[in-house]
Amino acid sequence: MKKQEALHQLNERNHTRTTCGLKMLATQPVFGAGSPNATIVFIGEAPGKTEDKLGVPFMGSSGKFLDEMLHDIKVSRSDVYITNIVKYRPPENRDPSTDEKNACRAWLNEELDCIHPQLIVFLGRHAMNSFFPDRKISEAHGKLIHDKTTSLSAEYFLPLYHPASALYNGGMRDTLKKDFSRIPKILKKIEQEISRD
Ligand code: URA
Repeated sequence: MKKQEALHQLNERNHTRTTCGLKMLATQPVFGAGSPNATIVFIGEAPGKTEDKLGVPFMGSSGKFLDEMLHDIKVSRSDVYITNIVKYRPPENRDPSTDEKNACRAWLNEELDCIHPQLIVFLGRHAMNSFFPDRKISEAHGKLIHDKTTSLSAEYFLPLYHPASALYNGGMRDTLKKDFSRIPKILKKIEQEISRD
């Protein structure tokens, strides 16, 4: 089966079977989007109002900022895969609860197993802490994590500040842009390490 079809099927299956309480409150699910053959997967927190309306991740103001940073490193959205830890909009954009995150977690793992990216980029602390619960985003942002011990099909992880938290904070915005601009070099380094193994 082609990866695109496999992704489509796993999304439909998980949407049908999910125990996530947010499903009843959201307009529609927001599935991951982009290339099933992506080398980079970006993981955000949860859909907001615009994403809930359109059914596509990162389409509002954080999405515009993400697009700007992708453009700066000459990468298009269609080259990468963008998803969220939670697939349904929490009411009033509140933080997703631990139960809501856990309910969508196996779904996210299936997406990652299907895509098998070289690099997973966490957009914000919620995404990072779903994988590395003890790390602090203020210390971990912009630093590549190489960890072979997770049960995931990826070994390299890059935590970044969430675009929404950086949008209206000049200092954080500059930090996020700087961290983001390291992605091409990080990918080259990963490719070299993979070819050495
Ligand atoms: N913020 C997120 O974390 N995800 C989206 O899809 C949109 C905004």
